[in-house]
Amino acid sequence: MKAPLFSSARRCRFVILISGRGSNMQSIVRACREQGWPAEVAAVISNREDASGLQWAASQGIPTRVVPHRDYADRVAFDAALAREIDAFEPDFVLLAGFMRILTEDFVRHYADRLINIHPSLLPLFPGLGTHRQALEAGVAVHGCTVHFVTPVLDHGPIIAQGVVPVMPGDTEDALAERVLGIEHVVYPTVASWLAHGKVSLEAGKVVVRDVADRAFLWSAPAVSLEKCA
Ligand code: GRF
Repeated sequence: MKAPLFSSARRCRFVILISGRGSNMQSIVRACREQGWPAEVAAVISNREDASGLQWAASQGIPTRVVPHRDYADRVAFDAALAREIDAFEPDFVLLAGFMRILTEDFVRHYADRLINIHPSLLPLFPGLGTHRQALEAGVAVHGCTVHFVTPVLDHGPIIAQGVVPVMPGDTEDALAERVLGIEHVVYPTVASWLAHGKVSLEAGKVVVRDVADRAFLWSAPAVSLEKCA
């Protein structure tokens, strides 16, 4: 068996990239602190200065940085500047959490086996944008999220864990997005804790998680009273 991707006497360092509200980032920061992982979120970095998650991170005493993509002539220049900011924090893993930029192949290779993403679908179904609309149009009965290693191919790469939710009669995109987000907030912090504890390795391009029976997370319905069932 190959060695875990992280095993060190020092605490595991995460840098999290966001473009918006950063609710996944918040769920990771909270779980890290509440569960006392041997880890820390060293920085939160955004390509947008108006990303509301930045304020929350700063309020938690986490260093924040902005690398505005519009300030750079092309993706190569932006990614190089972004990598400089990230590397200053010496991360063991870089977590993409609603980071809405397509990354260059050089950037992805620079962080090989250290770059993780959450995508709001059960990959390989529905890569790209509009995943909840795609799921409704396809008429699937289940939908969900995937946490995976990033490779140069968009929304592709070895799958670490997935969370599954039902698609319900009458679902709108918003209703489905909210249900999926709920399970994202379970799956992403759990994967981050596996990484922090050195449980994750890659063998022949597939993910192996030590001491974990199950890499699938299933949605559980809110309790329904008997009166409502009548
Ligand atoms: C999440 O649904 C994530 O899967 C997708 O973008 C959304 C980001 O939400 N990539 P948040 O910023 O973490 O609240």
